Amino acid sequence: MAEVVFKDVYKYFDDTLVVDNFSFQVNDKEFVVIVGPSGCGKSTTLRMVAGLESITSGDILIGNRVVNDVSPKNRDIAMVFQNYALYPHMDVYRNMAFGLKLQKIPQDEIDRRVARAADILGIEPLLRRKPKQLSGGQRQRVAVGRAIVREPSVFLFDEPLSNLDAKLRVQMRAEIKKLHDRLRTTMMYVTHDQVEAMTMGDRIVILKDGVLQQAGTPMDVYRYPENMFVAGFIGSPSMNMIQAYVSNGQLVTGNTSIPIEGFFEKTFNLDDVSECIVGIRPEDFFIPTSTDNQTPAFDATIELIETTGAEVLIHCSLNTMSMVIRAMPDSYIPDANSIKVGFNPARMHLFDGKSEMTLRR
Ligand SMILES: Nc1ncnc2c1ncn2[C@@H]1O[C@H](COP(=O)(O)OP(=O)(O)OP(=O)(O)O)[C@@H](O)[C@H]1O
Ligand SMILES: [Mg+2]
Repeated sequence: MAEVVFKDVYKYFDDTLVVDNFSFQVNDKEFVVIVGPSGCGKSTTLRMVAGLESITSGDILIGNRVVNDVSPKNRDIAMVFQNYALYPHMDVYRNMAFGLKLQKIPQDEIDRRVARAADILGIEPLLRRKPKQLSGGQRQRVAVGRAIVREPSVFLFDEPLSNLDAKLRVQMRAEIKKLHDRLRTTMMYVTHDQVEAMTMGDRIVILKDGVLQQAGTPMDVYRYPENMFVAGFIGSPSMNMIQAYVSNGQLVTGNTSIPIEGFFEKTFNLDDVSECIVGIRPEDFFIPTSTDNQTPAFDATIELIETTGAEVLIHCSLNTMSMVIRAMPDSYIPDANSIKVGFNPARMHLFDGKSEMTLRR
């Protein structure tokens, strides 16, 4: 069993607080992704698990054992970094075997482990090559292989794919996911890329300025973001945020009013709210047919239409706010500057304008 437990963990660099009261449990065999913008404390959090960074206060446990004062090599973890740091003068086999030799593991056991890792990663033909004779993706695999042969109880990955081009990154992220399915070992994976987080994590942890914003399954945080930061960070293009206020039982934005009675009052807590932010994802907008005057709609002005092939992004403005609508390539787009933009109220998000927290009950 190798859960990783954080209990009230703080980390200061001198006077600067970079991890602020972090408490979380990575369950045994779980794949948890830590995601957030640059500088939010992701690497520091992972490096504290690895023992490469001290903890200012709090506890970190790996498999029920407090590891605060345990040296990195005795933590039963293996870490893969962004720059793979392969030994340039050693071939692939020796790169993978080196750490095991230091641990005085018997040669036949080393051979067995390297052969298994090479098989899992499909790099048997490369075992006699030096790192400089490998592509970026192959070096990446060797770095992962070096972690696999240690047979750790926890794998730690810090942006291992960021040196790869976009296509290879998509391929390798699927491979790491498959690796997890195969090894069934606890994994913690750090990235700033929300797509990577969404596609790989059993659960994802969203950090901002060293503070945990939300943790949950990818679909949970996507459907039910607890605050505007998470709502805007997860999903691409980002959720549209539209200012509104509550007046006479109506939610008013620009010249659109949506009656609160019925659905909204059950779903959202609007009791003490005057100003709020309506959040609507690009895919939750649609262009109503001319006969549909039931659905709530905004009057918007088309600014730009982008076609990617699989979808069309319609950039619009609504008063001074801009919004993006995601539509199918064959959907009807009126040949006019101003359009009505409908949305499904059940897919609407609502945030307190001041606290930026969700108003969902
Ligand atoms: N050794 C250090 N001394 C002082 N400050 C540091 C040190 N290491 C990191 N920091 C600061 O701590 C904060 C968190 O850094 P960290 O590397 O954990 O961020 P990150 O989320 O991994 O960012 P990125 O996505 O850019 O890798 C940053 O503000 C960084 O400048
Ligand atoms: Mg980092």
